[in-house]
Amino acid sequence: MELPFAESWKIKMVEPIRKSTREEREQWLKEANYNVFQLAADQVYIDCLTDSGTGAMSDRQWAALMMGDESYAGSRSFFELRDVITRLTGFEYVIPTHQGRAAENVLFSALVKAADVCPGNSHFDTTKGHIESRKAVALDCTVDEAKDTQLEVPFKGNVDINKLEKALEENADKVPFIIVTITNNTAGGQPVSMQNLRDVRRVADKYGKRVIFDSARFAENAYFIKTREEGYADKSIKEITREMFALADGMTMSAKKDGIVNMGGFIATRHQDWYEAAKNFCIPFEGYLTYGGMNGRDMAALAIGLDENTEFDNLDTRIKQVQYLASLLDEYGIPYQRPAGGHAIFVDASKILTNVPKEEFPAQTLTIELYREAGVRGCEIGYILADRDPVTRQNRFGGLDLLRLAIARRVYTDNHMKVIAAALKNVFDRRHEITRGVEIVWEAPLMRHFTVKLRPLG
Ligand code: F0G
Repeated sequence: MELPFAESWKIKMVEPIRKSTREEREQWLKEANYNVFQLAADQVYIDCLTDSGTGAMSDRQWAALMMGDESYAGSRSFFELRDVITRLTGFEYVIPTHQGRAAENVLFSALVKAADVCPGNSHFDTTKGHIESRKAVALDCTVDEAKDTQLEVPFKGNVDINKLEKALEENADKVPFIIVTITNNTAGGQPVSMQNLRDVRRVADKYGKRVIFDSARFAENAYFIKTREEGYADKSIKEITREMFALADGMTMSAKKDGIVNMGGFIATRHQDWYEAAKNFCIPFEGYLTYGGMNGRDMAALAIGLDENTEFDNLDTRIKQVQYLASLLDEYGIPYQRPAGGHAIFVDASKILTNVPKEEFPAQTLTIELYREAGVRGCEIGYILADRDPVTRQNRFGGLDLLRLAIARRVYTDNHMKVIAAALKNVFDRRHEITRGVEIVWEAPLMRHFTVKLRPLG
């Protein structure tokens, strides 16, 4: 008999979690103004809000914490971290920051100015925010396939090379860099192929432009290249990451994802001029160059995390769990962005709550229903997150309306996946009875989804 697949680790420490009653959840939802960001974590049974900073560190990472060097300047932990990053990426210059958006803030302060155009594939919100707050444009050149959740293509996160070429043709003198997000979070944790990265490089070279990888989930991207792209099956993840980053000039990194630490980030580049320019912003915003925004111990743990999470077995365990959840949704006929992404399942709310008008936010309604059903907290990646158009102040209903179920790394078991899927199935089974959604009672002018106050209708 063939042995079944199993996790590539065993558990040394556990953290109790608590179920709640439907009555409790009803009360908590009301107190949270129907915004799951406003719930206390203790009111959540299984938390799929994000995979960011929620992963479980390994025994080696916890041991490394004790060995961290907290020297203000020249910390040994910094050099350990820098050496691992250089080994994985080929980038020689490294600046630690407290998280990914801080890396964006430091680097973009040096590179982006008003009226610039930064083309890329579905810029993450903070990336977009750091471009737009400098009065520049984040131009989305993602392939159109990403918009059809039911289309099964292997690299749905790719940059559309024709759109990119057109953007460069029209704006060449205004483009400070091209930014490629690997994996493409907003499009559903979808990977970008090595061929596409090569094509981006070719177009960049043609126009004399540099390329940044927003690398929050670069290791998962490498896993998909290995398992889906021809010619990579026999390469190690580390060989693949080296080959990927050889096609870029620099990276911003949220280490809270594929670095498997709870807080941290960095900038890395091969170009001294970028390093020198970024340094000027690192010191006032983040801290001195050999710690940036991080503790010595956190840099030590990150060095180990990066090394561990660029090993195939660790990634195989992780991605197979996300795929397992997807297989349960397949069994129940629940539509999601296909194929399953690296870090999350993005459930297609507009195909489920067909009786809820878009003005009443179907994905947010589904998020609330899932929490109400079983205390499972997902996150709306839809019309509320999309904010209003800055000029017309109208809601933006042009994109997808999804419920993201992000899976923390090395935290939940497959039994938890069964609970998530069953809870969603119960909501799915009564989907036709759900005819009303929510309305906004109060909202912030930007990034409203974190603090928005909602009221259920009907
Ligand atoms: N880039 C990508 C692709 C991200 O997914 C994130 C964060 C960031 C940059 C910013 O990094 O949070 O360390 O400042 N994504 C989280 C999420 C918040 O839930 O998807 P950060």
